[in-house]
Amino acid sequence: MSNPRVLNVAIIGCGSYGAEHAKFLATCPQVKLHTVADIAADRARDFAAKFGAGGATTDLNRIWSDPAIDAVWICTQHDTHAPLAEAAAAARKNFFLEKPLALTLADCDRIVAAVERSGVIASSGFKLRFFPAVKAAKAFLTRPTLTTAHVIDDHWPSEFWANDPVQGGGNVLSQGCHIVDTVIHLHPSAPVRVYATGGNRHHPTRAIVDTAAISLTFADGAVASIAIGDVGVFPYTSKFALQAADGARSFSLYNRLNSLMTRVDKQITEHPAWPEDGAAVIDREFIAAVAEGKPTPCTVHSARRTTAVVLAAIESIRTGQAVDLTKPPYAAAVTLPA
Ligand SMILES: NC(=O)c1ccc[n+]([C@@H]2O[C@H](COP(=O)([O-])OP(=O)(O)OC[C@H]3O[C@@H](n4cnc5c(N)ncnc54)[C@H](O)[C@@H]3O)[C@@H](O)[C@H]2O)c1
Repeated sequence: MSNPRVLNVAIIGCGSYGAEHAKFLATCPQVKLHTVADIAADRARDFAAKFGAGGATTDLNRIWSDPAIDAVWICTQHDTHAPLAEAAAAARKNFFLEKPLALTLADCDRIVAAVERSGVIASSGFKLRFFPAVKAAKAFLTRPTLTTAHVIDDHWPSEFWANDPVQGGGNVLSQGCHIVDTVIHLHPSAPVRVYATGGNRHHPTRAIVDTAAISLTFADGAVASIAIGDVGVFPYTSKFALQAADGARSFSLYNRLNSLMTRVDKQITEHPAWPEDGAAVIDREFIAAVAEGKPTPCTVHSARRTTAVVLAAIESIRTGQAVDLTKPPYAAAVTLPA
């Protein structure tokens, strides 16, 4: 049963995706946007005015020290995720943290440790798991044997912060993590091995990996093949697509994972497309978790596992070797608590 008490929330990071969350939060009667914060004072002020926030600040201590604030959305550059998540947990604030969890395994570990120490409710931003077509595909095919998937975007500017190795980590980590998360989510057993090829094809001024062809093996023997790049959206399947089969059944997710076709005994069913619901699909889950005091379905542990698999793929590209995820330093990160 939902708690009817209004939740006071704050947003840290008044940029493009903070705005997606603010748009949805403004439609939730059980949520009040109490404060917004940014290192740029004018951005915070304009954002507060646009979304009807109670206040705007550049001083995060105003959020950490305010007992009225129940939950915080952290929508900032990736190198700030670990320190901001640690500060939120230390202040006993439930938090939603955008994807990827962080840029390094060490920072992912810091976030998980802070959540475990504090007991706050924390969610990562892997929203594709909650798309209705993805949920229907998971219910239709519970144990895929083979999956193919991609996130292929249009060209990213080299100057974009997400292509900065310090702030963002590059396209493969920054948005490739979305499709890797969805593949792992659709497979019931743990990822155990990664081999990847690729490198930097389009951003010579940046020390990042922008293109990857990843082979992922799961503990039950299932395999997945994942392509990631910013080489131009595929016109038929769209930026995000994923297909899987188990020997008897198969499905295709396309149209940015909002459309689903399923196939059984050579009979194909085309399901009506679902409208894309932006950040709302995952914000609803987090708000319900905070209101009801229960864990979120997108835990920081599961986000660490996904981020670790992408980091292992990048390591594989750099070394030319497969990475065994059952050994340190990855084993702890890809094992979820019982
Ligand atoms: N889930 C999705 O589909 C999706 C889509 C786009 C972006 N994102 C994620 O959202 C996050 C933000 O991305 P964006 O595109 O909104 O970036 P952005 O650059 O538009 O906004 C980031 C904002 O954070 C502010 N900021 C940075 N450090 C700060 C700090 N220490 N304290 C307060 N404010 C700070 C910046 O000044 C900026 O206004 C990233 O993790 C990104 O990967 C998720």
